[in-house]
Amino acid sequence: MKVNVCIGSACHLRGSYSVINALQELVKDNKLEDQVEICAVFCLGHCTQAVSVQIDGGEIESVSPDNVYEFFDMHILQRLNA
Ligand code: FES
Repeated sequence: MKVNVCIGSACHLRGSYSVINALQELVKDNKLEDQVEICAVFCLGHCTQAVSVQIDGGEIESVSPDNVYEFFDMHILQRLNA
């Protein structure tokens, strides 16, 4: 699974680095390093929904440093377990 996190300016201002760090920690804590790749990408074109995160080229989700844990459970763990 490839998780793209936007580090364009709008997303950067809304905390993309905290989101990336949190996701990387969660991947490590759940020992998913060989299944989930977190990548920093440039503007995904959804700046008003910053921080934009896209999984495997799918829909763009709006993630914040506050809801990143929920996002990980709902969109990453559940998808891997599906
Ligand atoms: S800056 Fe992140 S979607 Fe545009």
